[in-house]
Amino acid sequence: EAADKGEYRHFMLKEIHEQPRVVRRTLEGRLGDGQVLVEAFGPGAAELFARVRNVQIVACGTSYHAGMVARYWLEELAGVPCQVEVASEFRYRKVAVQPDSLFVSISQSGETADTLAALRNARDAGYLASLAICNVAISSLVRESDLTLLTQAGPEIGVASTKAFTTQLVALMLLTLSLGQARATLDRGVEAELVSELRCLPTRLGEALAMDAVIEQVAEFFADKHHTLFLGRGAQYPVAMEGALKLKEISYIHAEAYPAGELKHGPLALVDSDMPVVTVAPNNELVEKLKSNLQEVRARGGELIVFADVRAGLENGEGIRLVNMPHISDALAPILYTIPLQLLSYHVAVFKGTDVDQPRNLAKSVTVE
Ligand code: G6P
Repeated sequence: EAADKGEYRHFMLKEIHEQPRVVRRTLEGRLGDGQVLVEAFGPGAAELFARVRNVQIVACGTSYHAGMVARYWLEELAGVPCQVEVASEFRYRKVAVQPDSLFVSISQSGETADTLAALRNARDAGYLASLAICNVAISSLVRESDLTLLTQAGPEIGVASTKAFTTQLVALMLLTLSLGQARATLDRGVEAELVSELRCLPTRLGEALAMDAVIEQVAEFFADKHHTLFLGRGAQYPVAMEGALKLKEISYIHAEAYPAGELKHGPLALVDSDMPVVTVAPNNELVEKLKSNLQEVRARGGELIVFADVRAGLENGEGIRLVNMPHISDALAPILYTIPLQLLSYHVAVFKGTDVDQPRNLAKSVTVE
């Protein structure tokens, strides 16, 4: 099944469309009645999680972006301080380990050299325990970690990671809820609500995928562009980072992500009619702030592509291409908004005629330094 593109032109497109199914699979057996089943992380996980006072996340590439999203969730929902670092930096520096800190590695392959080295260095550094969030059960990372939560994405063939990322986000939301439950720092009602929203997530993802044709139209506009800016705020900032990475990887267009509030501290100088600005704007309290960022871009002739909640009150206009997204809670918005950005970079790459599944100079798994 995995080695067959089926009806799809590329593995990447097939894997993008598999997301509702693999997200459902990643949730399977891990949700109870109004609560997450903490034992999914292994026997004794609840007792261990009750002691956790800090989380250190380490990963590379797309998996690092999943960790960046999780930081917002862990601090906001579970009240746990969290640091996130790329493994290639973490492994080579002296880290001051926080007391009662859980070491979390995230990896699709479980064989990324830097992530493995970081885990091995962490072993005697005084962490409470190590947890791997990984897509490959028989990987080195899983073997060498105390606890594991497997993502159920199935084999990912496209070099640019798609379904591995969204299933990592789902696993990290399960971790957030589990820590909140075990530490009694997450309101039971909030947990129950998020559990029921998680159950609906595959349907919402399907709705986002149904917007493929609209996004393909938007993509045409990028075919002759050389630079792009991606903006997001809060947990959507790492989603913007992942969107920019996807575009770089497969379409070779230079793309940079910025937290929207930093726009005037530098990138605004680059904005003109040749530099499209892509914005992810869910319907939360940051939308108003984002609206003024958008005006700043428009005032400089920048073309805007805005992915926004249908309820956000944003409108199409001169220089603004608005793509309305199905309504979703703020907490799960990063997962949903990833989909249109994946589709966007896919279609841009197809327009440009690049090798979508095997971009130049990149490897699926970086097992040597
Ligand atoms: C490579 C791949 C990326 C991936 C990264 C980390 O750069 O091309 O798609 O995100 O490695 O891989 P991992 O298997 O550790 O998630």
